[in-house]
Amino acid sequence: MSSVNFALTRPLSAGRLRPYLRAVKTRFPRLEKPAFGPSKSLLLMAGHMLPLSARLNPSHRASSSSIAVAYTSAMAEHATPVAAALLKLRVNGNQHSLPLDPRTTLLDALREHLGLYGTKKGCDQGQCGACTVHVNGRRTLACLSLAIAHQQDEITTIEGLSHNGALHPMQEAFLQFDGFQCGYCTPGQIMSAVALLTEAAGKPLSPAEIRERMSGNICRCGAYPNIVEAIQHVQEGS
Ligand code: FES
Ligand code: FES
Repeated sequence: MSSVNFALTRPLSAGRLRPYLRAVKTRFPRLEKPAFGPSKSLLLMAGHMLPLSARLNPSHRASSSSIAVAYTSAMAEHATPVAAALLKLRVNGNQHSLPLDPRTTLLDALREHLGLYGTKKGCDQGQCGACTVHVNGRRTLACLSLAIAHQQDEITTIEGLSHNGALHPMQEAFLQFDGFQCGYCTPGQIMSAVALLTEAAGKPLSPAEIRERMSGNICRCGAYPNIVEAIQHVQEGS
């Protein structure tokens, strides 16, 4: 088992960063870049978290959760003040201009700067689905997206799902089938469920398929059976 210590206790100078990255790459040759989010270099800069996983399993392949945790920690550790950028975001049909740190996540932009609290922050690491929104109709984890990357996109939050005061059929179904208890995960569940039916493009999904496709949305209250029933109901009516 490796005893190499990759802990970063302070930001590295440019001259020391390359050898450090080479060493981490050698130790974690199969470290993969996730489908979206930080660059591989940024992930590698988060090496101070990786030894924890390495101690558990020498042939460790970094999981998305350890990458997310490592990335978050690296961002905090390496954070330096940067000039605000004027971001233009189109949310729920409304155009907004916000002077923001360009590193602001879409989730923080929505909640902290636009006051759209329907989108929830659960894990802030891409693990729970509470922050699910639609970007150009596709479900997206707002906690793993930078707001600056979505200036050309149409963003929809749970607040934008109803029309003229009428709830979306999926919102109605969650009410009808009791698809929630505390409600914290519910906006993310509903946004995922709506996108799921778009993804299915009219193909009927079995309860097992619905469960599988909704597996990125965690409900601590265990409302899963009722959530599946609600989605089935909307699917049958559409
Ligand atoms: S808050 Fe984004 S996935 Fe949990
Ligand atoms: S309803 Fe409470 S976490 Fe899902």
